[in-house]
Amino acid sequence: MDSSQTQALVDEAAGLVASCGDANALANAKARFLGRDGLLTQRMKSLGKLSGAERAAAGRELNAAKQRIEALLAEREAAIEAALLDARLSAEAIDVTLPGRSAGHGGLHPLTLTIARVEEIFRSIGFDVADGPEIEEDFFNFTALNTPADHPARSMHDTFYVDPVAGAQPGLLLRTHTSPMQIRYARAHQPPIRVIAPGKAYRVDSDATHSPMFHQVEGLWVDDDISLADLKNVYADFLAQFFERDDIDLRFRPSYFPFTEPSAEIDMRFADGPLAGRWLEVSGAGQVHPDVVRNIGLDPERYIGFAFGSGIERLTMLRYGVGDLRVFYENDLRFLQQFSR
Ligand code: PHE
Repeated sequence: MDSSQTQALVDEAAGLVASCGDANALANAKARFLGRDGLLTQRMKSLGKLSGAERAAAGRELNAAKQRIEALLAEREAAIEAALLDARLSAEAIDVTLPGRSAGHGGLHPLTLTIARVEEIFRSIGFDVADGPEIEEDFFNFTALNTPADHPARSMHDTFYVDPVAGAQPGLLLRTHTSPMQIRYARAHQPPIRVIAPGKAYRVDSDATHSPMFHQVEGLWVDDDISLADLKNVYADFLAQFFERDDIDLRFRPSYFPFTEPSAEIDMRFADGPLAGRWLEVSGAGQVHPDVVRNIGLDPERYIGFAFGSGIERLTMLRYGVGDLRVFYENDLRFLQQFSR
């Protein structure tokens, strides 16, 4: 074996190592030259056949070749590792110039917005805001409101009755209006009484403008020297503030409720805009019936009361131009997001 053969082996190793793309290929290349049966190893094994002087020279040469190949392998291994690291760094790179992920903010439901708005307006004109039970006693929902058990007006208020459970009060129902709050509040406060009570009510009703669960706001004003004109003023003022418009007409259309006398439906009309000229019913109202004044423990000869009960859905539909009340309960974000502010 001569030095040109050794050099050829080193050249071959250099070529092969240079072509290695990963640690596996490199291990194979190492085995091919330096492994137990590797090409260089075989040559080293054959040194024994040489005479002393030749063996020393050839041994040095093979050792140098071995070191050279080991150096080539180490160099290539470092290069492969560096390339791997580079690839990983660029794959995992964080682009600090990208905008942050937003937390996604919620919004209030349009009916909640309306209730808050109604409360704010009535508070600003001196009304208290009260809250009462949705599961109501028959007494407060009907009897105290001049609607005894055999009264035909009850059928307009067909409702959901709560099965009497052992030990529970009989005559519980889902309230059909917020009017029971007239009784509850007035029994607990002294005149002058000025209160609104917004909340849920329930009826067996379901179409584009009625839902079995809906919202009302009750209003009650009891004093010794007020008149229907005061109620009309307050309500007109409320509507102007609620809709932020001064083109609203109001009319009290004769109606019937057992607990008010006289009774009226309050209709409103915009002078401008898409609904211009159409009378729209927004509320029931009336002078609190003397029997009801008595039921809350006051003398109807001395005190006079006015009450109204307005539909929250109706007010919301008119304010935002919503045509179908069912969208309020479908939880479709495309609808709800239009109200988040
Ligand atoms: N409670 C009546 C209804 O739900 C509305 C109303 C309230 C009427 C107060 C008069 C006075 O239809």
